[in-house]
Amino acid sequence: MAEPVAVLGLGLMGSALAGAFLRRGHPTTVWNRSPERAAPLVARGALRAGTVAEAVSAGGLTVVCLSDNDAVSRTCESAGRAFDGRTLVNLTSGTSREARGLAAWAADQGAAYLDGKLLATPDTVGGPDTAVLYGGRREPFDAHHATLRAIGGGLTRLGDDPGLPALYDVALLDILWASLNGFLHASALVATEDVRAGEFAPFADLLFAALPSFVARCARQIDEGAHAAEDSTLETHLPAARNLVAECLARGVDADPPRRLRAVIEKAIAQGHGKDGYASVVEQFRKAPLEHGGG
Ligand SMILES: NC(=O)c1ccc[n+]([C@@H]2O[C@H](COP(=O)([O-])OP(=O)(O)OC[C@H]3O[C@@H](n4cnc5c(N)ncnc54)[C@H](OP(=O)(O)O)[C@@H]3O)[C@@H](O)[C@H]2O)c1
Repeated sequence: MAEPVAVLGLGLMGSALAGAFLRRGHPTTVWNRSPERAAPLVARGALRAGTVAEAVSAGGLTVVCLSDNDAVSRTCESAGRAFDGRTLVNLTSGTSREARGLAAWAADQGAAYLDGKLLATPDTVGGPDTAVLYGGRREPFDAHHATLRAIGGGLTRLGDDPGLPALYDVALLDILWASLNGFLHASALVATEDVRAGEFAPFADLLFAALPSFVARCARQIDEGAHAAEDSTLETHLPAARNLVAECLARGVDADPPRRLRAVIEKAIAQGHGKDGYASVVEQFRKAPLEHGGG
């Protein structure tokens, strides 16, 4: 028989998680602060718990997915000692520090803790390739592996540290937002000549298709600590970055993003990387500039 599961939080993601467990035949008990959100899941066979403790007690595994980790702390604390001897899987977005704090709290309750980060949207939850990154001890991960596959078949345990998935999560968003902002900024630039984003997009796609080979080379060079130019030097990149700034200024498009890019290349060249490849720029990102304040 499939393992009983409790799901705390029935927002867009929590509802998708509970739905995925139900599809796989897991007896699923659900709890949500606003109880009416449980109705569609109850109609599909879920049991509604009146309290967090009742939900946790019904499942071998409790999955929590709320807006933030403050809500997770308060919600889980309201369960009293119900977590003792059970496993808590937290799929809420947050920081690595928060994840480590929750792992320590769970340990005090006698519970095993896995922190998970979904590289997914609700509609892709439950897919055979849907990626979910976990951090925490191997024993609970292995013990609940079959159940966790209901959420996403592309699951990876990064290691014992429950904080690592949160770090991967924001690092991947770093890439996503930088890439999308690159496209959005470039679209604003070509729009000054009435070029529609849809006309420009196929050429952006050519670049995105080439990215995996650039990423692989950068990763190899970063790990080797050697940034020899294999195609073009930073001195070759610099005039192109200057051209980009000039086009933005001439067309009244925000020149700040390319100015920052140009400044980073100039600094790397000033530090002796002019004949190195683009991966050498990584050194500029390792340490925050002194003028940086708090968050
Ligand atoms: N949606 C996505 O595509 C996606 C993708 C990856 C990761 N995530 C992460 O998944 C988590 C949930 O996202 P979501 O899209 O499901 O958000 P959502 O639709 O806004 O749902 C938020 C959930 O948190 C509950 N909640 C908020 N504050 C609470 C509190 N103080 N005490 C108890 N419950 C509280 C809400 O309960 P009520 O119904 O009572 O308001 C609701 O169940 C977030 O950390 C998000 O970053 C989401």
